[in-house]
Amino acid sequence: MRAPLKGLILSGGKGTRLRPITHTSAKQLVPVANTPVLFYGIRAMAEAGIHEIGIIIAPETGEEIRAAAGDGERFGVRLTYIVQDQPAGLAHAVLTAEPFLRDSPFVMYLGDNLLQGGIADLVQAFDRDEPDALILLTPVPDPEHYGVAELHDGSVVRLVEKPAQPQTDLALVGVYMFRASIHAAARAIEPSARGELEITDAIQRLVDVGRRVEPHIVRGWWKDTGRLEDMLAANRLVLDTIEPSVQGELVDSQVDGRVVIEPGARLERSTVRGPAVVGAGARLTDCYIGPYTAIGEGCVIRNAEVEHSILLSGSIVHDLAGRMESSLLGRNVRIGRDTRQPRAYRFLVGDNSEIAIL
Ligand code: G1P
Repeated sequence: MRAPLKGLILSGGKGTRLRPITHTSAKQLVPVANTPVLFYGIRAMAEAGIHEIGIIIAPETGEEIRAAAGDGERFGVRLTYIVQDQPAGLAHAVLTAEPFLRDSPFVMYLGDNLLQGGIADLVQAFDRDEPDALILLTPVPDPEHYGVAELHDGSVVRLVEKPAQPQTDLALVGVYMFRASIHAAARAIEPSARGELEITDAIQRLVDVGRRVEPHIVRGWWKDTGRLEDMLAANRLVLDTIEPSVQGELVDSQVDGRVVIEPGARLERSTVRGPAVVGAGARLTDCYIGPYTAIGEGCVIRNAEVEHSILLSGSIVHDLAGRMESSLLGRNVRIGRDTRQPRAYRFLVGDNSEIAIL
């Protein structure tokens, strides 16, 4: 019998492009439609029949990841946490996980990636065709920000990490399938210009030594949620697929379209126009929640309009004169009108925050 596939989810990294949120929280735990990004990857693996999953964590954010995902029981998988002591690249993460992976074939999933339609079909193709690696590619408008692939007659000829002058628009999606041959390839490469052992270079190494690397062009959407725009886009895409359900309490309020109101939420004289989700225990009074909004657990919104935004748990928004949109609020943020004298803007804002006022 062939060794069963293992899973490896990378959940380290600093998340610099999502500061200030990532000053206090791991980027993989930022919620999309009120569920941490990381959980979508774990679920995709579980649905593909992968039950042994290693999660690579960084010393700084590892405990938070561990606390959120636990032992994996609720996903029907077993999670093993593996500390990568320095952010030395994706191929370095694979080498760090070698004692866990041993000679098993595995799926590697970047913990901040979201892939529509899961990975079950891909796992099947990988099992059936038995290549050394199966990589996923998708055309993007800004390939210089990704690993980029050049194909010839459907075969991979060259892979370059973040090229200044990309030769194609085919980006490497953050989901890869490997056999044990990747370990030797990862050991054979040198650090890149950014000082990391790039998985892109390790896959190029497989190509160079004549191993079989199969490309697969993804048909559905894919999002790397590293930046605010991507986070909001991922939120839109996932909210478009949620099952409507109203479990909270509606008082003189209405919900239109694809809306989830979680248990214990209470709406008074408010309108929610979906797709949108309102988290457990949230309080919405005299407000309008517009499409593509995810309101976290325990948020309080009063006399305000919010649209196309993500609010993490415990935030308060009140008495805004204009509509708030395209925003990402961390936990326990307070935004509101202040009636004290002198009339002035008053801020208490962390490093790397961004505020745009009317
Ligand atoms: C990493 C990989 C890159 C890939 C991308 C997908 O980039 O190095 O090849 O295209 O993930 O999300 P990073 O997120 O480290 O910039």
